[in-house]
Amino acid sequence: MKQANWNEYLSLQHPWTKRLIGIEQFSKNRNLEQIEREYNQDKYGTLTEFNFTDIELYKRKELELSGLSDNDKIFISLGEQLFETYRGLAFSIYYSTIANIIANYNPERICELGCGYGYNFSYLNKICPEIYGGEYSKNAVILANSIGLNIKEFNFYNLNDYLIIRKKSLVFTCHGVEQLPSAISFISGLYANKENIELVVNFEPTFLTNRTSLIGTLRNRYIEFNDYNRDLITLLMDRDDIDILEYHPDYIGLNPLHPTNIVVWRFK
Ligand SMILES: C[S@@+](CC[C@H](N)C(=O)[O-])C[C@H]1O[C@@H](n2cnc3c(N)ncnc32)[C@H](O)[C@@H]1O
Repeated sequence: MKQANWNEYLSLQHPWTKRLIGIEQFSKNRNLEQIEREYNQDKYGTLTEFNFTDIELYKRKELELSGLSDNDKIFISLGEQLFETYRGLAFSIYYSTIANIIANYNPERICELGCGYGYNFSYLNKICPEIYGGEYSKNAVILANSIGLNIKEFNFYNLNDYLIIRKKSLVFTCHGVEQLPSAISFISGLYANKENIELVVNFEPTFLTNRTSLIGTLRNRYIEFNDYNRDLITLLMDRDDIDILEYHPDYIGLNPLHPTNIVVWRFK
């Protein structure tokens, strides 16, 4: 990995530079109509055209449709440090971090919420015997079921949907809570089923109130423009019935403007 600098990354060629400094307007309202368009129709709807039988083929097609390959160089961040490296290497660091963190807790079963068609299931299967999930997009659920994955329709905003969580589950999310401007319904849904939940592991970018540097401020603005999650970390920290076992802010950014925080927690 080669060390890089923010000037190289955020030149005027980068579409977000103009937006972040106010030369170009951008705003999104991340409601269910947006999720329907962005995920159900565009991302997963396109993949339903291919009748693959293996998840790896869907992953490969997704990469191909994005116009990237594993040999392309991308920028990634670790904290506020920036590096340039191959996409394939960056993604394997990212997914092995998830697997390593979860494997430390030796879960009996994992429930991924907002899991798409099960992108993460193939490596989670290697560390845990039972993986299941819930997802809003009907097309993603159809894709998942067609390749034998146990994924049900689930909406973070519907309290009853959290009844899918089975006893002794580790609940995992990866850029799923990101899609909720507020995480109130997520925490309430888990709270109502806390007897079934051993642990929660979130790999989620969110607004962080204690960011004061230039990069931190740009990252918070990026969250606001995209209407991504603003309160997961503050909600968790403000509650006295939650134990936070691990918290690694801005741990890794496959998109350096939108880095993933890791938080591992449970109800007391
Ligand atoms: C960035 S993708 C992440 C997918 C998956 N976790 C992964 O790591 O590949 C966000 C996912 O959240 C889902 N999602 C968005 N809003 C949701 C909601 N209200 N309820 C359930 N899933 C939702 C989207 O459809 C999409 O599959």
